[in-house]
Amino acid sequence: MIELSHVSKQFGDDIAVEDITLRIAKGKFCALVGTSGCGKSTTLRMINRLIEHSSGDIFLDGQAIEQYDPVKLRRRIGYVIQSTGLFPHWNVARNIGLVPRLLKWPATEINTRVEELMGVLGLPVGEFAHKYPHQLSGGQAQRVGVARALAADPDILLMDEPFGALDPITREKLQDELAKLQARLHKTIVFVTHDMDEALKLADHLVVMRDGRIVQQGTPLALLQQPADPFVESLLGGLERGLKQAALTRVKDHMTSLGPSWPAQSRIPADFSLRQALSMMLRDHCDRLTVVDQGDVPIGELSLRRIVKEAQLDKVSQRDA
Ligand SMILES: Nc1ncnc2c1ncn2[C@@H]1O[C@H](COP(=O)(O)OP(=O)(O)OP(=O)(O)O)[C@@H](O)[C@H]1O
Ligand SMILES: [Mg+2]
Repeated sequence: MIELSHVSKQFGDDIAVEDITLRIAKGKFCALVGTSGCGKSTTLRMINRLIEHSSGDIFLDGQAIEQYDPVKLRRRIGYVIQSTGLFPHWNVARNIGLVPRLLKWPATEINTRVEELMGVLGLPVGEFAHKYPHQLSGGQAQRVGVARALAADPDILLMDEPFGALDPITREKLQDELAKLQARLHKTIVFVTHDMDEALKLADHLVVMRDGRIVQQGTPLALLQQPADPFVESLLGGLERGLKQAALTRVKDHMTSLGPSWPAQSRIPADFSLRQALSMMLRDHCDRLTVVDQGDVPIGELSLRRIVKEAQLDKVSQRDA
């Protein structure tokens, strides 16, 4: 869907992005992380031609992006930024309907689409359609920004620190909504963030950049298990790496069948993470949990020993592979 091949960008004598090669398959969620100024936003903006690349090739659907009309291209690609970029003198409904209006959709279709998206993003139409951006909280404005990016149903969504300015609770809620939306709509998403937990939680493909270059890319689990160098390791949380890995692993993938002994007191749902299981063990002073299904029926058990051993097995099998 999106392919960057040996792409560089120079501003005058400054190299902002240097020789990056990156392939993002249709429907995948790619997160770009790295320290400030390493070229993440520049990379994103080269994809919708807000910035023209200096060398290398960028392809969308196998076609070089120079062959697309930049204006048409940008209408095909949703773009969300931290400051939302909403028009202050337009109400919420008008802001969300921007691109469909530019694309000359019939008015009734635009209204239907705007109302549908407001529903999806938890913005009741009666309450919000006629509000202006200055009457919204940061989280609400951000939702409007996401709704606007989705309005014309683009295949590609570029998101530049979309949740950066939000408090942790609102942020987590919007992350969960984005994950749900992605599971349903299968957009191809490129997402820039400073928050490693956000990147690990949402991404299928994680790209770590430093000084304009890609230092490592792969699945979040692969990077956690084998960071390429101390920079990637520290960015991934250093000593916290084990817990971050546990957060990506489901209880159901590591439980054993219910033993003959009396089930453990503490119960954990099978779709919880190993990190939550560890936390529960610490809280309840135990080293064994009963795993339950959605109906709270016991379906297996999980021991501390098992969690520690599985982590080790993952490591061994990776090394052998
Ligand atoms: N329009 C521009 N003109 C000149 N230099 C620029 C321009 N845009 C970006 N740069 C430079 O390119 C480099 C990469 O910038 P970029 O905005 O891509 O970084 P970033 O990874 O998004 O950083 P942050 O995390 O702080 O947003 C920086 O050194 C920046 O100063
Ligand atoms: Mg940036």
